[in-house]
Amino acid sequence: MFQLTRSVTWQALQGLQQQTADDRIRDYFAADPKRFEKMSLRVGGLFLDYSKHQISDAVLDKLIELADHSALVQRRAQMFSGDIINVTENRPVLHTALRNLGEGPLMVDGQDVMPEIQRTREQIRAFSEAVRSGEWTGFDGQRIRDVVNIGIGGSDLGPNMACRALLKHRHPELNFHFVSNVDGAHIQKVLSRLDPATTLFIVSTKTFSTQETLLNAHTARRWFLDNAGPEADVGAHFIAASTNKAAAMEFGIREENVFEFWAWVGGRYSMWSSIGLPIALAIGFEGFMAMLEGAYEMDQHFLTAPTAANMPVLMALIGIWHINFQGAETQAIVPYDQALHQLPAFLQQLDMESNGKSVDIFDRPVDYKTGPIVWGQTGSNGQHAFFQLLHQGTRYVPIDFIASLKPEPGMEDHHFALLTNMLAQANAFMEGSAKGGELDPYSCPGNRPSNVLLLDELTPKNLGALIALYEHKVFVQGVIWNINSFDQWGVQLGKRIAGEISERLDAHSQDFDPSTQGLLRLVREQLPTHDTASDTPARRGKKRRTT
Ligand code: F6P
Repeated sequence: MFQLTRSVTWQALQGLQQQTADDRIRDYFAADPKRFEKMSLRVGGLFLDYSKHQISDAVLDKLIELADHSALVQRRAQMFSGDIINVTENRPVLHTALRNLGEGPLMVDGQDVMPEIQRTREQIRAFSEAVRSGEWTGFDGQRIRDVVNIGIGGSDLGPNMACRALLKHRHPELNFHFVSNVDGAHIQKVLSRLDPATTLFIVSTKTFSTQETLLNAHTARRWFLDNAGPEADVGAHFIAASTNKAAAMEFGIREENVFEFWAWVGGRYSMWSSIGLPIALAIGFEGFMAMLEGAYEMDQHFLTAPTAANMPVLMALIGIWHINFQGAETQAIVPYDQALHQLPAFLQQLDMESNGKSVDIFDRPVDYKTGPIVWGQTGSNGQHAFFQLLHQGTRYVPIDFIASLKPEPGMEDHHFALLTNMLAQANAFMEGSAKGGELDPYSCPGNRPSNVLLLDELTPKNLGALIALYEHKVFVQGVIWNINSFDQWGVQLGKRIAGEISERLDAHSQDFDPSTQGLLRLVREQLPTHDTASDTPARRGKKRRTT
């Protein structure tokens, strides 16, 4: 059977890594004055400069060969057409269908799914317009002023990131809050500032079974009923985005207020579905559709552009060079744009939950590195936090710098400082500094790689394209690594053990290791009355509903 690390191309790349180990990136520019023009690419409102990497022409050609010799063409066609490529969960992977603006049908299990996707889009349009216009009112006739999204992981990170990124497009009379952590402090802080009469809760959960989300949803409902008085109508203040309509209705959500999506939408790929409802409420349905349009145009580019001019493929290959041949363990995401400060957290789940795998699709342990540790923070803040390590530390950390070119009116001076700082940092990481310079006695070695990704402007459309770009980058790396990027069995393990521990806070803890037993004893000292047998969200919900 095919072994990636025994392939001719992979071994040629290993040879090239040794041959170019002492190359200086800056010398590539001296040798080829056209390097910037050759290693930069525009797709719609996005411009990628990928010239500052220790990647010679020969390395780039061989990386392109790696993609061309992979199953990319086949697996990409299978994904877009609805084949079952998520083999361990026996599902298609069709987040691209959610933003499909083409005319043709899309068959899943012999049924065209486009009509139901369009029906849900229409449901989102009608609902978001009703709330934004004030037509949708709460139990005492007031319009909604606060929207609380209750969800975690992909049911939080995407809409949360997008609502923050597009804050300047937000409805002026609507405030948005995102509750995700099971730590009660999170929901308490949000609820303490709200009026139940003007608050709408969106229970966002693909499965409607995630412990954190159910606990938060029940606490929100208890708060609502305790504070809204006898005429309180849960149905007018709670809606759901879920694949599990029955569970949502059992919670007390009206059938017409369950915004469905489907099992073939992965949580971390779901912001294009009804999980994106907070985005449509925040920026309007037109803005939401513009975001989908940006993603759709990136999809078309990904489907049609040749490998050597395909932005997601090139970003994937550059990442593979860093991870599998240069020894990078992490990938830094540094948006020089405060509106994108939640992008690193979103990309963490997208990348690490997709490609944090160690067996291939044939269930064989891999003998190569796969998904990197993704982390980051906005610039210029990072310059005053972790850039020291990146400049003079012992680690090799590729960086994606991301910024938008258009300044906010009246903030041109700030924007100039922001962008020049970013360009200066990318240059300094590459150039380093002369040894013994008066400013840095130990010198900065330089030769540290980075991408620079520029958006013309941070609009819904360009944000959609940016997210789709990274989705496809992750997908391409998963294909080349021959792993399933769309399941997450590691997380299920954590969920199962969390359930076991919470059920066994009492005497049965001896089933666990001595450390866990000792720690459980400390927990029991603080929570002696916590009766796990009766106080689970489902049972709490039932008990309260009868009072
Ligand atoms: O982190 C595991 C996970 O299943 C994610 O994939 C998902 O986005 C998150 O939990 C929330 O799941 P749900 O939307 O079903 O509540």
